[in-house]
Amino acid sequence: MLNETTPASDEGDFTTLSNFRVAAEELPAFKDMPFEDIEELHLDHPGANDQAYRERRDHIASLSKKFRETGEITDVDYTEEEQDIWRHVAGKLEGLHQKYASPFYLRAKKDLGITNDRIPQLSEMSKRLTETTGFRLAPIEGLVDTRAFLSWLSYRVMLSTQYIRHSSRPDYTPEPDIVHEIIGHQPMFTNPAFADYSQFVGLGARKANDQQLEELGRLYWFTVEFGLVQHEGEVKAYGAGLLSSYGELEHAFTDDVERRPFDLEEVISHKYTYSDMQPVLYVIPSYAELKEQTRKYIESF
Ligand SMILES: [Fe+2]
Repeated sequence: MLNETTPASDEGDFTTLSNFRVAAEELPAFKDMPFEDIEELHLDHPGANDQAYRERRDHIASLSKKFRETGEITDVDYTEEEQDIWRHVAGKLEGLHQKYASPFYLRAKKDLGITNDRIPQLSEMSKRLTETTGFRLAPIEGLVDTRAFLSWLSYRVMLSTQYIRHSSRPDYTPEPDIVHEIIGHQPMFTNPAFADYSQFVGLGARKANDQQLEELGRLYWFTVEFGLVQHEGEVKAYGAGLLSSYGELEHAFTDDVERRPFDLEEVISHKYTYSDMQPVLYVIPSYAELKEQTRKYIESF
């Protein structure tokens, strides 16, 4: 199953990689992504009993799915209600970002043209990421298995959903939505060291045995999703799970959270729970250091 949903494998020696960018013609064909195990809307989702929401989510999911046949991102004509959810959440996050987000993230969010006024399209975000670090976005209609998801990072491709959370709980989403993808993830992919780091995680995922894959999943969780970084004597947030959730972001800086210095060996063996607020977070010294440590780690696979 894992092989069926994973990009074609041509693992080389990582050390021979001299140019990390991937040309369009070197990408595996997106139409070859079967993704049979894509997660559908769960019963505990706030929109589970809202028929109109379910249909809308299905419609947007079908646009994402179309990407695999055409290779083109279809823009979503977001409704005013959806734009309102964005305006509400983005506006509320903005103040917290100014206080807690890493300076790189803040600048990148601005440079990418992400505003509180309207939902950006994945097509425009992907174009700008490609211009900066060679990253691309590929729409996806739900969660996929860890190996498939991480493996696409090896091609500097990030799978992203396009639908938005339910209006009854704008502060919460049990699945990645457009707020999480754009506000949480996309600014950091304009950072060259972070982009290379993400790609190394992807290269590792293509080679990893099951145990190593689990370790990479934890590394991803405590960095890309819940990472903190040192900045001029202060601790700042760069993880998407923090930056796209005001609850998690504020909580990360309270006394309830132990903020430990990043230790790769410790992180890869640290079992976390998906649903609770995170009691332990790790602070990297820099994105470049994270990249180097990860390069050495995946070279050992
Ligand atoms: Fe995420």
